[in-house]
Amino acid sequence: MNRPDKPDLPPEFPGATWYDEAEIEAAVRVLRRQSPFRYYGPDCGFETDRFEADFARFIAGTPGMPWPEKSDFYVTAVNSGTGALEIALDALGVGCGDEVLVQGFMWISSISAIIRNRAIPVLVDSDDTLNMAPEAIRARVTPRTKVIMPVPMLGGCVRMDALMKEVRDINAARAAQGLPPIRVLEDCAQALGAHGQGQPGSVAPVGDEGVHRVGTFGDVGIFSLQINKNISAGEGGVLVTRDPELHRRINALHNAGYVPDANAPRYWYGDVPLGWGHGRRMSEIQSAVARVQLTKLDDIVNAMRRSHQRLEEHVRQLGMTPRARADQEYPGDTGYYCLFQLPPDGAGEAQQIARGRAVAAALDEFGLRPWFLHDFEVHVYYNIAPLVEKKPLNHQCPWACAHNSFHEQYRYERGTLPRLDAALITTVGINVPSLLTSQQEDGIRAALTYVLGGVKNPG
Ligand SMILES: Cc1ncc(COP(=O)(O)O)c(C=O)c1O
Repeated sequence: MNRPDKPDLPPEFPGATWYDEAEIEAAVRVLRRQSPFRYYGPDCGFETDRFEADFARFIAGTPGMPWPEKSDFYVTAVNSGTGALEIALDALGVGCGDEVLVQGFMWISSISAIIRNRAIPVLVDSDDTLNMAPEAIRARVTPRTKVIMPVPMLGGCVRMDALMKEVRDINAARAAQGLPPIRVLEDCAQALGAHGQGQPGSVAPVGDEGVHRVGTFGDVGIFSLQINKNISAGEGGVLVTRDPELHRRINALHNAGYVPDANAPRYWYGDVPLGWGHGRRMSEIQSAVARVQLTKLDDIVNAMRRSHQRLEEHVRQLGMTPRARADQEYPGDTGYYCLFQLPPDGAGEAQQIARGRAVAAALDEFGLRPWFLHDFEVHVYYNIAPLVEKKPLNHQCPWACAHNSFHEQYRYERGTLPRLDAALITTVGINVPSLLTSQQEDGIRAALTYVLGGVKNPG
């Protein structure tokens, strides 16, 4: 086969590349009012309140349907996904002496948020979705487990139906032993707009058995609005929960630690002290832009899904095994990334790693923005040096904390999660931009054929 031309691809940033006059007008509207702060200003437009209200309707909705008028969800907008995770764990009561179960394929913030709350991360192995394997949870649970954090990576869903059933089972057994229930925090920073089937509720079902947007199965869901995400305000984060008391805590913690007193409002940060605030309010400019982006989200995701499906089919025909979907019948993944496993070749680990790197390098020459997952920076537990080395916060926390001495039994080097480790050294992926023309898709397919056609017999 002749070497195809390098395709001329659009940038990969799904939300930001959809900016048009509507986002510009929204940002300028805030600037003209000279009121960029969410609670007050010369002429505050309360864009953040409006964004939270819109998001509550969006997240309650059925994909493909208009947003419902009413929502059971409470939403708090913050200034980053990392901040959202830290606040969520704080609101869930995580601290010294606690363990948080997390998957080994994530982003460093999923782990740093646990460490910053002075708790111990406990790694759970993945299944063929590359996300947390529901059946691997039980063996990692101890009486100290406080929260389970699944992370739908690169827009690919977790098997949330099975996971929530498992958590409800575990919590029923804990209740019989007098132990508090384990809570579920979904880190959906990379999966806004995805959906799955199942029944929400970590202790008892709290919603129908059916289709739900990711982030609504557990007790709290978080999202990021950073520039790589499906919608973007440059920076930003969102927390959602159905639980009014949890919302009260989140609301206080995202600000100065106080909540407004409904009986005697003072028009200040409130006067009921709940804890120590994180100071992570979202600005009005971000909220105004995010509100516009939210109206485009389903279109952005559907565009990625369509391209993803075609590219996935192509790599399958080339002999690769695409990443498994949580739900084959009704997949709700966003299509942000097309991941595929290279065929088995009987070679040792070193050769497999060399092969993965060579494939990624060849795809990179065509500008496909590939990653060989073993080298996917701090998305992979064993690439996070501060985790492997148990690097502490100030005063040696959390590792040297007397309440956390049990951490000695936990390790974070490669080898801790055998199933994920094996998948990472055989999996490569390419980005799926949300604005691909059919000509550009053809260009990607030709490059994939050229590079992957020779992969079957690496020796
Ligand atoms: C899985 C995951 N969690 C958390 C975050 C943190 O979000 P932010 O960059 O908005 O702080 C990210 C961002 O990339 C992420 O991918």
